[in-house]
Amino acid sequence: MKNRMLAKTCLPPMPAILLFLMWLAMPALAMEPEGPHLGVASCAGSTCHGATSPVAGVNVQLNEYVTWVRQDRHAKAYEALLSEQSKRIAHNLGIGEAHTAKICLDCHADNPAAAMRGPILQISEGIGCEGCHGGAQNWLSSHTAGPPRADNVARGMTATEDPVARATLCLSCHFGNQDKFVTHRMMGAGHPRMSFELNTFTQLQPAHFVVDEDYQKRKGVIPDAKLWAIGQAVTAHEHMTVLADSKRNRDGLFPEFVLFDCHSCHTPMSSKNWMPRNNGVRIPGMPHVNDSSLVMLQVLTNVLDPALGKAIAAKTQALHGEGSKGMAQLSTAAGDLRELTARMVTKFAGSPFDGKVIKAMIRGLVQAGLDGAYSDYSNAEQAAMAIDTLVAAMRTEKTASEKELQNLARALDAVFAATAKDEAYQPARFNAALTGVRAALGG
Ligand code: HEC
Ligand code: HEC
Ligand code: HEC
Ligand code: HEC
Repeated sequence: MKNRMLAKTCLPPMPAILLFLMWLAMPALAMEPEGPHLGVASCAGSTCHGATSPVAGVNVQLNEYVTWVRQDRHAKAYEALLSEQSKRIAHNLGIGEAHTAKICLDCHADNPAAAMRGPILQISEGIGCEGCHGGAQNWLSSHTAGPPRADNVARGMTATEDPVARATLCLSCHFGNQDKFVTHRMMGAGHPRMSFELNTFTQLQPAHFVVDEDYQKRKGVIPDAKLWAIGQAVTAHEHMTVLADSKRNRDGLFPEFVLFDCHSCHTPMSSKNWMPRNNGVRIPGMPHVNDSSLVMLQVLTNVLDPALGKAIAAKTQALHGEGSKGMAQLSTAAGDLRELTARMVTKFAGSPFDGKVIKAMIRGLVQAGLDGAYSDYSNAEQAAMAIDTLVAAMRTEKTASEKELQNLARALDAVFAATAKDEAYQPARFNAALTGVRAALGG
């Protein structure tokens, strides 16, 4: 799994209600449909974003291109389609060549419809600037003059500084959306398993922006912990949306397996690992829905709004219990959770994430494990990234002593060691590491 031990923070606050309404109106992230995509070369001029090192006296770095092309995996995403692994996947699926197949290019390149392509856009560039920032035609000439951010966004620039818009953007590829999706068929053909956590992945992406004083003035700050929380709410919302949709959650005879916990099917018969959950429903011999983000949301809401926490716990139980009886019941239970998760986005946007709240959340994450909630690898993986994020927040916001942070860093090593390999995952070992975290947390 992915992890990063040290964090710097900071993303901006958002006018929650407005953004929430925009979010409900998805897939349109921006107020105006985005314009055609012009290609990385249109951004990377030497006096634009193609400087060789950061330029002083300007708001932004201006060497974003160099950072992206040298360090960022998104610049290599198209190349990945030329690999032996991709050849095998494409062969197994019978889709011709991976690097010309739309289903692959939609996530491994900036691949707009033909009418939305400028003359010099190269698909082989991979996920270029506009793959995240939106097609530039309608704002390319004006954005250099430094108009208010809102004007650019109104012309189709993605509001990447806004956590909901960012989560939706990243998840469109790191989970999938209405238009593109990694199905279990693709997994079966050899596509790697995917996992995502918004704050961790934001930190892992080589930064081509600096959250300095000027940035904060222009775009504001959002703490790591809040970014994690909002990312979980949006992830659960997207997951429940697919689960509730009888067309998308269906592949012939079966539901779409990708929405279920991978290791509830993929375990050797000799492992004898099955165990009940103290606080949830588990049926032996039945695959169960991947509930990793729902479990994270329970921990979050137990601290911020216990009534909501109870509601989500009850609905998650219904998802596993009632939902195991048939597709109609599963769809109803997922639909209920979808409603709840939509409410959480606004809840989190307006909640404090101070030192006390963060400590309570770490304790909650530990307790959930001891209650059996991390019998699945994917849940343990999310819990590990969450604790890492929260400890990083304690460091940034100086709500713990240096000694406490050192102890926590050591305890985190054990947490990561216990989640390093999905197929070797042992819940008991992970829970022992969690107990270490609790001890390191002090009083
Ligand atoms: C919904 C988006 C999506 C689709 C569709 C998709 N991928 Fe991916 N793919 C990803 C993401 C995201 C990753 C990176 C996962 C990670 O590292 O967390 C990835 C990783 C990979 C990797 C591993 C890359 C590496 O550097 O190790 C290969 C190979 C790959 N994809 C091939 C394909 C092929 C071939 C297709 C078409 C059949 C395809 N993908 C379709 C999103 C997608
Ligand atoms: C995988 C997504 C992704 C890709 C690809 C990407 N960016 Fe970004 N970019 C972001 C995110 C996220 C931020 C931070 C949020 C923000 O400030 O809007 C950001 C911020 C920026 C900023 C704002 C810095 C500031 O101080 O306001 C600039 C400028 C920028 N990117 C330029 C580029 C250029 C040029 C490229 C292509 C060479 C590129 N980006 C590629 C996601 C991406
Ligand atoms: C257009 C699809 C797309 C979008 C949008 C996108 N990604 Fe990715 N991302 C990918 C693919 C595909 C890969 C794998 C590339 C490879 O390894 O070849 C990837 C890889 C990554 C990696 C490297 C993971 C690793 O294994 O080391 C990080 C980190 C990441 N993305 C973060 C983000 C973040 C944060 C956002 C949102 C700001 C985002 N991505 C948006 C498709 C996308
Ligand atoms: C409901 C049960 C179920 C779930 C859940 C499930 N799978 Fe599968 N998986 C299967 C079956 C059945 C096969 C086909 C086995 C065969 O062809 O022999 C398979 C095949 C595979 C293969 C190919 C293995 C091989 O031998 O080549 C991969 C890789 C895979 N799944 C990955 C995943 C991932 C990743 C997830 C979670 C996102 C997942 N699976 C969830 C049942 C499941």
